[in-house]
Amino acid sequence: MTQQDASAKAVRDGFTSSFGVLAATLGSAVGLGNIWKFPYLTGANGGAGFLVVYLLATLLVGLPVMISEIMLGRAAKRDAVTTLVQFSPRGQPWWLVGAFGVLAAFLIMAFYSEVAAWVFAYVFKAIGGSILSSDPAVTSAAFGQLVSDPVQSLLWQWLVLAFIGGILLMGVSKGIEAVTKKLMPILFLLLIVLCVRSLMLPGAAEGLSFLFTPDFSKISGAVILTAMGLAFFKLSIGMGTMITYGSYFRDDQNIPATTVRVMAADLFVSMLAGIAIFPAVFSFGFEPAAGPSLVFITIPAVFASMPFGHVFMVLFFVLTAIAATGAMLSILEVPVSVLNGRFGISRPKAVVATLLLLALIGSTCALSGSLLADFKLFGFNMFDLFDEVSSKLIMPAGGIALCLFVGWVWGFDKMKAELSNHGALTNEALLRKLFFLLRYVTPLLVLAVMLSGLGLI
Ligand code: PFF
Repeated sequence: MTQQDASAKAVRDGFTSSFGVLAATLGSAVGLGNIWKFPYLTGANGGAGFLVVYLLATLLVGLPVMISEIMLGRAAKRDAVTTLVQFSPRGQPWWLVGAFGVLAAFLIMAFYSEVAAWVFAYVFKAIGGSILSSDPAVTSAAFGQLVSDPVQSLLWQWLVLAFIGGILLMGVSKGIEAVTKKLMPILFLLLIVLCVRSLMLPGAAEGLSFLFTPDFSKISGAVILTAMGLAFFKLSIGMGTMITYGSYFRDDQNIPATTVRVMAADLFVSMLAGIAIFPAVFSFGFEPAAGPSLVFITIPAVFASMPFGHVFMVLFFVLTAIAATGAMLSILEVPVSVLNGRFGISRPKAVVATLLLLALIGSTCALSGSLLADFKLFGFNMFDLFDEVSSKLIMPAGGIALCLFVGWVWGFDKMKAELSNHGALTNEALLRKLFFLLRYVTPLLVLAVMLSGLGLI
C-alpha cells in the first residue's frame, strides 16, 4: 500500500460501532421488499410453497453471495467498481459487476422511490382518514386517484428523493448509520404491535395456514425465478450494494456471523409482515392474491374493518416508510460512492448529481400510471420493466459473476484471510463449505434458475 492509499483509507468515512453495522446493513435488507413485495408475491404464488423455495434461495444463493460481497468490500475499502478493478487480474473486466450495479441502482430506485412515494403519501392520507374505508372499491379508487395523478406522483417521488438525499449528505456514519440506528428498533416495535393485533382477530388461523401450509402445485420455473429474484432483492445483493456497505464495515466485525444475523432478522421481518397481513386479510374476507396493490388497497380496507383501525393504519404506513428509508439509502450509496471514490467528485456533488438523474429516470415510473400508461417496452410499462430487469437479470447475473470471481479468481486463501479477520476467528471448516458453494453450487444453481425461469431450458 502506498502512503497515499494509506491516508485515503484513514480518512474514509465508515460505520463506527458494531450495532451501527448491523442497523445499517439490516436497514438495507429490510424494506419494501419485506412489506410490499414479499406479501404480494407470496399471496399471488400460492403461499407456503413459494415460501419454501424462497427460503432455499436465501440459504443457498443469498447467504454465500452476501458474505462474498461484504468480504470484497471490506478487503478493498473502496466503492463497488474500484473494489473489482483493484482485485482483478489485468485485462479481466470484473468491474462490470460494479458498473451494472450502478445501472441496477438507478433502475431499482426509479420504481422503488415511487412505491415509497405512495407510502409516504399514505402516511398523511392515513392520518387524515381519507383512505379509511372497509369497502375495497373505495380504497381502490383512492389508490387509483393517486397513481393516475401525474402531479401528485411526481411531487411525492421528489419529496422522497430529497429526504433520502438529505440523509446521504450527512455522510456514512453521521447520516446512514445514525439514522438507521434510530429507525430499526422502532420498526421492530411497530411490526410486533401490528402482528399481535392481527393474530387476535377472529379467523386469523386461516391466514396463518395460507402462509405456512405448502402447496407445491403452483411452483413452476417462472415461480422459482421469481422467488430467487426476491431473495436477491431482499438481501440487496448482486449489484454492489453489499460491496459498498462492506467497505464501511469495521475490521474486527465477524462478517459471516453478521451476515447470518442480518439474513435471519430480514426473514423474521418478512414473516412478521406476513403474519401482520394475511390473518387480517383472511379475517375480513379479502383476496390474498391482490398483487402489488395489496398493501395500498386491501390493507387500508382491512384496517378500516377493525377496532382502532385508524391508529393501526397510521402505524403500518409509518413502519413501511421507515423500512423503505433504510433500503433507499443503501441503493443510492452505490452510485454516490462510485462517483465520489472512483471519479473524485465531492460527496455533496455526487449526491445531487445522482438525485437529478434519478428524478429524470424515476419520472418514467412515476408516470407509469398516468401519462405513460400506454408506453411499453417488451410488453411492460417502465415501472414493471425496471423491476423485472433488475431482479431477474442484473442481480442474478451479478451474483453468478461474484461467485465465479471469488471461487475461481480470488481463491480460498484470500477469502480465509479476510473472513477469519486474518486469523483472529477460527472458522475454517465453515469457510471451506462456503467456498465449495461459491465455486460450484451457487453459480450453477442461479444459472439454471435463470434459464428455466426465462423459458430458455
Ligand atoms: N432489500 C431491499 C428491500 O427488500 O426492500 C431492496 C433493495 C435494497 C434492493 C438495496 C437492492 C438494494 F441494493
